Amino acid sequence: MTGSNTSVNTDHTATDTGSVSFPQNRSCPYHPPTAYQPLREERPLARVRLFDGRGVWMVTGHAEARALLADPRLSSNRESDAFPSPSARFSGISRRRTALLGVDDPEHATQRRMLIPSFTLKRTASLRPRIQRTVDRLLDEMIEQGPPADLVNAFALPVPSMVICALLGVPYEDHEFFEGQSRKLLGVPYEDHEFFEGQSRKLLRGPEARDTEAARDALEDYFRKLIDRKQKDRGDGLLDELIEQRLNEGTLDRQELVEFCTILLVAGHETTANMISLGTFTLLEHPEQLAELRSEPALMPAAVEELLRFLSIADGMLRLALEDIEIGGRTIRAGEGVVFSTSLINRDESAYEDPDLLDWHRSSRHHVAFGFGIHQCLGQNLARAEMEIALRSLFDRLPHLRLAVPADRIPFKPGDTIQGMIELPVAW
Ligand code: HEM
Repeated sequence: MTGSNTSVNTDHTATDTGSVSFPQNRSCPYHPPTAYQPLREERPLARVRLFDGRGVWMVTGHAEARALLADPRLSSNRESDAFPSPSARFSGISRRRTALLGVDDPEHATQRRMLIPSFTLKRTASLRPRIQRTVDRLLDEMIEQGPPADLVNAFALPVPSMVICALLGVPYEDHEFFEGQSRKLLGVPYEDHEFFEGQSRKLLRGPEARDTEAARDALEDYFRKLIDRKQKDRGDGLLDELIEQRLNEGTLDRQELVEFCTILLVAGHETTANMISLGTFTLLEHPEQLAELRSEPALMPAAVEELLRFLSIADGMLRLALEDIEIGGRTIRAGEGVVFSTSLINRDESAYEDPDLLDWHRSSRHHVAFGFGIHQCLGQNLARAEMEIALRSLFDRLPHLRLAVPADRIPFKPGDTIQGMIELPVAW
C-alpha cells in the first residue's frame, strides 16, 4: 500500500498539547467557533488538543495551508494509528480504507483519473437543465403544501440527493436509507423518540462509534448488491460506466468500486445540502446582501464563492506528517497530526480584507472551502451549479421567504461534522 506510515514516530507526549481543544461547536452557525479566537491570534500554526488528549498542529494561515495541502509529506492515509481522529465516534471508522480521500499518490492519482471525466466543467454544465428541473419540481411541491416547511428536508437535502443519484445511477427510491446512513456515518445527530412519563418525545441523538461503523457497513453492503444487480441489468449512470469499462475489464477491483460509490454518494449530497440550508439561513440573516443579490442576479456566482469562503462547512481536514516539515517558523515532526481549520484559514486577514464581512464584491477566489492540492474537491463544479440554481430559484419563487421561528431556536450541526442546519423551519 502506498503512503504506508508504519515507520513514523507516534510518541506525542513530548510536545505541548495546546490549551484549546478541537473540534468545537460553533456559537453562531456561520462564524468560526468563538473558542478558536486565541488560535486566530497565533497564526499561521497553533497547537490544539484532540478528544483523546493528543496534541496536533492546527493550520490557520492561508498561505501556509495551501503550501501544506500541496505537500506530499503530509499523508491522508487513515489506516495508521497515528492518524488524528476528531472524536471518539470516528476513531473506529477512520482506520478503514477510504478511496480517494484516504489514499496518497501515486495510488490516489490512478483512482482520481478514473473519475475526472464525469466531473469536468463541461460535463457539469450539461447537468444544469436537469438540476433546474429538480429544483423547480421540489419548489412546486413545497409551495403546493404551503408554509411552514422544513427547508432541509423539503429542498436542501433532496436537490443534491436527486442529482447525485441520477449522476451515479443509484435509484432515488432508496434515498431514506442512504441519507440516514450517510448522516450516521458523518456523525450528524438524528431524530429519535424516547418514552418519558408515559409519553413519546422527540430528541436528537448523536451517533456513537458503533453507529458510524454500522452505517459504513450498511452503505457498502447496499452498493455490493447494487453492483451485482447492475452487472446483470445495465442502467445509465457513472456506476454503470465504471462497471462496464473498469470492473469488467479488471482495472478496478470490486471493493475499490464500492468505496468510490460510498464516497461519491455521501460527499455528493450531505455537503451541498448543508451549503444550501446554511447559505439560505445566512442570507436571511443578512438582508442587505440578500437585497443586493436580488437586484443584481448576475452576482450569484460571486455570491456562491463568497458563501463558500464565509461558511467553510468542511471545517477540519486531517493529515499525518510522514517527515519533518519546517513552516511558519515551526517544525511539524514526522508522526504528528495536522488539522486544517478552513473557517480560520478562509478568514485570514492577510488573505482577505475584513474577513468577517460577507461581501459579494471581494475576490473570494483561492479560498480552501473545497480543500487544495491533490484532494481538492472532485465535485466542486457540480456543487457550485447546484448552489447557484437552488439559491436563485428559491429566492425568485419565494421573495418573502423568512425564518418560521427565532434564529436562536434553530438547531445546527456539532463541530465534529460538516457544518450546516439540522432543520430550517421557514415560511413565506
Ligand atoms: C459545497 C459542497 C462541497 C464542499 C464544501 C466540499 C468540500 C470538500 C473538501 C474540503 C474536500 C477535501 C478534503 C480533504 O482534502 O481532506 C473534498 C473532497 C472531495 N469531495 Fe467535496 N465538497 C462538496 C461537494 C462535493 C460533491 C457534490 C461531490 C461529488 C459529487 C464531492 C466529492 C468529493 C470527493 C470525491 C472528494 C475527494 C477527492 C480526492 O480525495 O481526490 N464533493 N470536498
